[in-house]
Amino acid sequence: MDNNPSIKRGLKDIYIDTTKSSYIDGNAGRLFYRGYDIDELANNSTFEETAFLLMYGNLPNKEELENFESELKQARRLPDNIIEIINHIQSSHPMDVLRTCISALSAFDIDVDDNSRESNLRKGIRLTAQAPAIVAAHDRIRKGQKVISPDDNLSHASNFLYTLLGEIPDEEDGKLLDKDFLLHAEHGLNASSFGARVTASTQSDLHSAVTTGVGILKGPSHGGAAESVMKMAMEIGEPENTQDYINDLLNNRGRVMGYGHRVYKSIDPRAIHLRDDAKKLGERKQQTKWYSILESIADLMVPYSKKGICQNVDFFSGAIYYLMGISEDLYTSIFTMGRIPGWTAQVMEQFEKNILIRPRLFYDGLLDIKYIPINNRD
Ligand code: ACO
Repeated sequence: MDNNPSIKRGLKDIYIDTTKSSYIDGNAGRLFYRGYDIDELANNSTFEETAFLLMYGNLPNKEELENFESELKQARRLPDNIIEIINHIQSSHPMDVLRTCISALSAFDIDVDDNSRESNLRKGIRLTAQAPAIVAAHDRIRKGQKVISPDDNLSHASNFLYTLLGEIPDEEDGKLLDKDFLLHAEHGLNASSFGARVTASTQSDLHSAVTTGVGILKGPSHGGAAESVMKMAMEIGEPENTQDYINDLLNNRGRVMGYGHRVYKSIDPRAIHLRDDAKKLGERKQQTKWYSILESIADLMVPYSKKGICQNVDFFSGAIYYLMGISEDLYTSIFTMGRIPGWTAQVMEQFEKNILIRPRLFYDGLLDIKYIPINNRD
């Protein structure tokens, strides 16, 4: 037995491979997708175009983008069997429904047994379009409402809002959610992308890898934080209660959700975009209280930035979804919808130069214990 292994708990700061999908400069607070600064993309691109960039590796020309958007639109309708599954499990958490349905969709996908790059691109496009359809259909079914057919005149984000809320969204809401999806699309070797890669590394398939990713993203230390931030804002209730609430939380070694990150030691650049958007949305919807509460938390957290505990992407996203009238337990599902192109890109990278991901655990238990028959045990 190796007596002195170097144990890297949580795989902190370990590089397991190379990637061209995204780059995070955690100290400078910068994020790049395929070499493009996230600010450039957030200010100029759309989710659809960025999804193409991530999956194909380059920005599309006009014709390529039109074809990509059309393929996404064609995949928006769910098989009847998936609607039936949603009906059966409608009382489950939306992330459990999404995970189950993504797994079940493999049974209806003609490319299921094909792990070629072309097949994975087709499956990635379909899953990107199907995830919002699952989330919207589930939310309506559990609320006793009719499932709404997609509108092919609407963008990916606007169509999601329409099929979820039953009304064509105003242009600004559609654009804001589009940007939110774009900002969530890819992010290095985060826990869910790592999980998706581990699944792919066994030469499994994209549906299995994305199912793994959804299960991991659900956790409050990862994608589940947006829901927790909004829960915290509601518990605070009014900005004047923030100081007592946060002091109490921190004195009891609690964590301020939406703060801290394994890689960023300065503000997450995605949070900067969403901060400005959350403020403007609150003003537009004449509900400025939530932004004020978040701002009052941010003021109290200023000293923590010296320790590298800064706002992450989830700090403002919950308030944005809330102000759009989206139920709180859907926030992590919205994150998931944005992340599918990133998982697809990384799974394809894993397949391209595959190696089984199989680290080791150092055994620190006993050895050679004698078996005692059950009747002789204490
Ligand atoms: N509030 C208060 N203190 C914090 C916070 C926080 N949000 N985050 C980290 N810390 C403190 C820890 O208590 C710890 O202090 P200690 O050394 O005195 O014990 C120190 O900072 C380091 O924390 P770790 O948990 O070791 O850092 P790690 O890199 O493992 O964790 C994580 C990162 C899980 C994101 C953590 O910051 C956290 O729990 N944040 C709140 C949840 C959250 O917002 N998650 C979303 C992350 S973004 C994303 O996944 C999309």
